Amino acid sequence: MEQQDMKVLVGNRAADLLVKDGMKLGLGTGSTVVHTVRRVGALLQEGKLRDIKAVSTSFQTTIECEKMGIPLYTLNSREIGGQLDLSIDGADEVDAQNRCTKGGGAALLLEKIVAYASLSYALVIDESKLVENLGLVFPIAVEVVPEARLVVNRALEELGAEALLREAVRKAGPVITDKGNLILDTRFKSPVDPAVMETEINRIAGVVENGLFTRIKPVVFIARRDGTIGERR
Ligand code: 5RP
Repeated sequence: MEQQDMKVLVGNRAADLLVKDGMKLGLGTGSTVVHTVRRVGALLQEGKLRDIKAVSTSFQTTIECEKMGIPLYTLNSREIGGQLDLSIDGADEVDAQNRCTKGGGAALLLEKIVAYASLSYALVIDESKLVENLGLVFPIAVEVVPEARLVVNRALEELGAEALLREAVRKAGPVITDKGNLILDTRFKSPVDPAVMETEINRIAGVVENGLFTRIKPVVFIARRDGTIGERR
């Protein structure tokens, strides 16, 4: 099975298995979870799902929800009250303890706020995302305020990483996040403790958030090339 087909399969499966009537639902960002979003929208349109209150994590997902007619709220909406029943998202890398990195789509800030405000959390990935150690191959995204770009870059080097400013495609200059910040793509040369590093990186003045997600235990749906889906808790 091709990677694109795996994304559709796993994205749909998570919606079918996890999303229930009346849920306050966080919706992540990316080319896998977009299929979950579309599935939720289709189920609502068909009347097979009712009363979903969704919170989006990016412009990409907001636009997709708008197209599908999924009712959107913010975490601060009275109906949401700062807590979600479930959030579903993609990931860049997932280790054996289901800790993950996110931010390949530069949406890590809202993705983390939404994830950590959720009573349960699910990741939808294909098997290419499984790794032994996070942050050695796919970089850890670090969102920084523009003024702190070099200061944070130096501090990340002191932590043993190499950081590169993420360049935009079809726009001159760097990627600007949905919240107006920059992304430093950060690679470590040797394995790090993800939980320690999640805290350490955020201690640097000028860092808004980083893409290590270690404080929530997701259920991970893994699409395999043979067309099956594994579930790991
Ligand atoms: C966006 C993300 C995405 O969830 C992550 O990059 C995975 O995306 P995809 O499913 O397209 O591979 O963190 O910021």
